[in-house]
Amino acid sequence: MDALLTAADNALRTLFGVPRASRPCPTVPDGPDHLDPQQTRLAGALMRVNHVGEICAQALYASQALATADPALRAHFEAAAREETDHLAWTRTRLDELGARPSLLNPLWYAGAFGIGLLAGRLGGDRLSLGFVVETERQVEAHLDSHLERLPAGDQASLAIVAQMRDDEARHAHEAEAAGAMPMPTPVKQVMRAAARIMTVTAHRI
Ligand SMILES: [Fe+2]
Ligand SMILES: [Fe+2]
Repeated sequence: MDALLTAADNALRTLFGVPRASRPCPTVPDGPDHLDPQQTRLAGALMRVNHVGEICAQALYASQALATADPALRAHFEAAAREETDHLAWTRTRLDELGARPSLLNPLWYAGAFGIGLLAGRLGGDRLSLGFVVETERQVEAHLDSHLERLPAGDQASLAIVAQMRDDEARHAHEAEAAGAMPMPTPVKQVMRAAARIMTVTAHRI
C-alpha cells in the first residue's frame, strides 16, 4: 500500500508539480544565445522531446522501484530517479525560456512508460529490469548525441543541458550494468527503438 501511494505521489508530482533540481543547471561561459524565431521554435520542439524523455524516465524508475523486492536495487532505482529529476527540472526551465510548452500527451507518456517498466520488473525479474535500464539509457544517450548536432549552434543554454544529460545517462547505463543487468534480446531492443521513435516524432509537435 505504501509503495502504491509513493508511486501515485511520484506520478502526480512529475506531471503536475514543479520539479526541483538538486544540482545547478549546466551553463556555458560563452556569451548569450543567438536565436532567430525559427531556431527558437526548433529548439523548443527538441527540448519538448527531451522533457518527454525525462517524464518517461521518472515513470520507468518509479515502476521498477515498485516492481523489485530487493531493497538495495530499489535504492539504486531511486537514486537514479533523483538525478533524472534534475533533468526534468532543467528541460522544463529551458522550455519555459524558449516560450515552448510541454507535451500535451505527458500523462499518456507517463502511463505507457510506467506500464512497460512494471512489466519488465514483474515478468522479467531484477536482472531483466536492469537490462531494460541499460538499453533505455543507451538509446537515450544516442538520441541526445543526435540533438547535440541538431540544436541550433547559437542555443548554448540547451546544448549545455543536453550535454550534461547525455553524460548522466551514460553513467546510469554503466551503473545498471555493474548492478548485474542482463543483455536484452535484439527483437526487444528493436521494439524499444520503434516505440521511442513514435514518442519523439509525436512529441516534436504535440
Ligand atoms: Fe535523464
Ligand atoms: Fe538516465
